[in-house]
Amino acid sequence: MSCTCVVGLQWGDEAKGKIVDLIGGDHDFVVRYNGGNNAGHTVVWGDRIFKLSLLPTGTLNPNVTSVIGNGVVVYPPQFLKEVDALAAGGISVGKNLAVSDHAHVIFPYHMAEESATEKTDSSIGTTGRGIGPCYQDKFGRTGGIRLGELLHPKHLRERLQSIVPRKNRVIRALAGDAGGVKEFDADQVCDEYLGYAERLRPHVQDTAYLLNDGLKAGKRILFEAAQGSLLDVDHGTYPYVTSSHSLPSGIWSGSGVPAKHLTRIIGVVKAYTTRVGRGPFPTELADGPEGIGERIRKIGREYGTVTGRPRRVGWFDAVASRYTAMLSGADEITVMLLDVLSGLDELRICVAYELDGQRRTTFPSDAFVLERCTPVYETLPGWKEDLTKVRKAADLPVAARKYVERISELIALPVSVVSVGPDRAQTIMLQGK
Ligand code: IMP
Repeated sequence: MSCTCVVGLQWGDEAKGKIVDLIGGDHDFVVRYNGGNNAGHTVVWGDRIFKLSLLPTGTLNPNVTSVIGNGVVVYPPQFLKEVDALAAGGISVGKNLAVSDHAHVIFPYHMAEESATEKTDSSIGTTGRGIGPCYQDKFGRTGGIRLGELLHPKHLRERLQSIVPRKNRVIRALAGDAGGVKEFDADQVCDEYLGYAERLRPHVQDTAYLLNDGLKAGKRILFEAAQGSLLDVDHGTYPYVTSSHSLPSGIWSGSGVPAKHLTRIIGVVKAYTTRVGRGPFPTELADGPEGIGERIRKIGREYGTVTGRPRRVGWFDAVASRYTAMLSGADEITVMLLDVLSGLDELRICVAYELDGQRRTTFPSDAFVLERCTPVYETLPGWKEDLTKVRKAADLPVAARKYVERISELIALPVSVVSVGPDRAQTIMLQGK
């Protein structure tokens, strides 16, 4: 039995999609277990670019069954939009895409609720996709609706008739004097969602059985984490996190596959760090339009796949990645976007933090403490060569090799892959299972 997980060890956007695409074909199932259409996975095949935010990256491979697990929150219009976009690109999606009947559904009022909250002083800079309010309703138990319920029209109407008036009151209260909020009509929402339900129906099933039966039959599963480990609701930089478990700890609850089946955990890091939205970021390079931060942003095309927001950019933070490597149980790491750092005279890696005159190498529990930490850097020589055509480790400039080796030493894990460009071909395999 073989279950692999690909997980980001930073604040998301580590290029996990590329790794999932590379090894997805060695698996029978590719499964998402957390988040929703707040994720952004870009896969490049030559001149073809696929951008997915809700469907698992595995959906691109017709020989793999893609599964949206129960831990994911599903916005049906986005699901159908991505299915249609794949069909237009010649990738047909049918029985090979399954979505859990236990997965909670995002409704337009979730986005309105989030938008009203984000206008208050509690803003955390979300993606605005209704993710937080949908999970709130799930865990609050009274306002959540699961995908399976969409297939029962009478039941769905009754639930929405009870929930929507309450939601209208909440949204009005959140907006306060600012007003300008839209009132939702339960019947209208219900009619709209019953339309989606008909198209979703063939994909909806209890995916926990699908996956566990698959395991019994010797099938291999690849779990694709969305967001990064530092955005995990329990272990990330709370409250500047997402509302799900992006760490592999979310697999058991978010898919129904017991953790004992996991045999390989691949931690993905960028050769530098990025973050979108608010929250502490000790190694951030806020060095202006002519600075290194802007240079990395431009070369690395560091703009959000979902929202188009410019990502905040900083040096590699080994304290943070060592912490998430520990929590994720990673066996190995892959270092992505190394090519982006070409041309810099020197590079920095954060090896510790300084707080109130004390040096520490552990990641603080509280975001407000992390905010006060200053990075302690080690400086390494840069390299001038373009790396995008390098295919073997031996052909990397010495400085680039040393940089990767230092990351590996600091995280205390072997590096299995170095990526030097978005295309599948731009990959250097160092070792593999
Ligand atoms: P939410 O997930 O939309 O609620 O946003 C919460 C925080 O997580 C915000 O800072 C977002 O920018 C961040 N976030 C959510 N999804 C991603 C992602 O896929 N990549 C990077 N940041 C993300």
